[in-house]
Amino acid sequence: MISRPSNSAREGILHRYRDRLPVTDATPMFYLGEGETPLVLSRRLAERVGCERLYFKLEMCNPTGSFKDRGMVVAVAKAVEEGAKAVLCASTGNTSASAAAYAAHCGLDAFVLVPRGNIARGKLAQAVAHGARVLAIQGNFDAALEIAREISGRHPVAMVNSINPNRIQGQKTAAFEIVDALGDAPDLLFIPVGNAGNITAYWRGFVEYYQAEIAARKPRMMGWQAAGAAPIVRGEPVENPETVASAIRIGNPAGWKGALAASNESGGAIDAVTDDEIMAAYHLLAQEEGIFAEPASAACVAGLLKAGPSLELAEKTVVCIITGHGLKDPETALADQAEMTEVPAELDAVERAMALT
Ligand code: F0G
Repeated sequence: MISRPSNSAREGILHRYRDRLPVTDATPMFYLGEGETPLVLSRRLAERVGCERLYFKLEMCNPTGSFKDRGMVVAVAKAVEEGAKAVLCASTGNTSASAAAYAAHCGLDAFVLVPRGNIARGKLAQAVAHGARVLAIQGNFDAALEIAREISGRHPVAMVNSINPNRIQGQKTAAFEIVDALGDAPDLLFIPVGNAGNITAYWRGFVEYYQAEIAARKPRMMGWQAAGAAPIVRGEPVENPETVASAIRIGNPAGWKGALAASNESGGAIDAVTDDEIMAAYHLLAQEEGIFAEPASAACVAGLLKAGPSLELAEKTVVCIITGHGLKDPETALADQAEMTEVPAELDAVERAMALT
């Protein structure tokens, strides 16, 4: 059999879910490895929260290390279809890494606006490596998004933030995968909330599968903001959002309405967890499950630990969305333990240091 020179026409979410995406005959079909992420059964956290069927959807296993790739493949494919030569986004880091990678794959220029000093080093490294033009805005994400919106209105650049509906379309495919893997929707879905595009996308995916009778139920959507950046919980924008979880350091989310709709229509909730709770969950995930996620992703696990006792989870199926990889933010990982134990290159010294003698 003669194999085709490219896998790109037949793999990935553009192909697999084309009937449920805005894919036309003119849409370029390509694939960087996005989608089909693992759904991993919890071992030790499941015991802690008293829930046997607790799963982690490892969206950190997407090609650039975050869920953004699902939305980006659709947004960039549509941008190419429409003749764009450049893409633009504001980002706390992951969107910029993803936009830069997909733009490189398609030969487009990428412009990314990031809040100066508040983006994890790994994410910056990704944008730089892929050849994006990175502008460090002297302001926060909300200010950068405002400027990006203005620029995309004035210049022929494709805006690839989640206000681009193609991003939401692509990201809803994660909900499809969860239903496909479990045979139905879970009872509860725990997800971090920043600009609020992803919770909007998951809800859309679950509703679509329910309406198509592929799923018999819809999950309660449990969204988690960081306490210092919790505008939806507080009911008003936060002017100076602050949190260790830099990915969700957002004071005026563009997807505010979508997040509220997801929470209200599903009988769920949007609530907040403190930085201490986020960091405790971050360490538990890494040390009790072997999952190295970034702090923003740990926010939903912190939410599960906080709300779990009142939710009677024993008989429930629960999924936590692990949105981004811990390697993106090595500084946070090493913050508590920057110093390593130095030992001479001698057998007995190493044995002593290991407390084996
Ligand atoms: N988790 C991670 C790792 C993220 O990077 C983000 C958002 C979220 C959760 C929240 O998702 O914004 O759809 O509610 N990151 C964006 C960015 C804002 O620019 O990379 P959301």
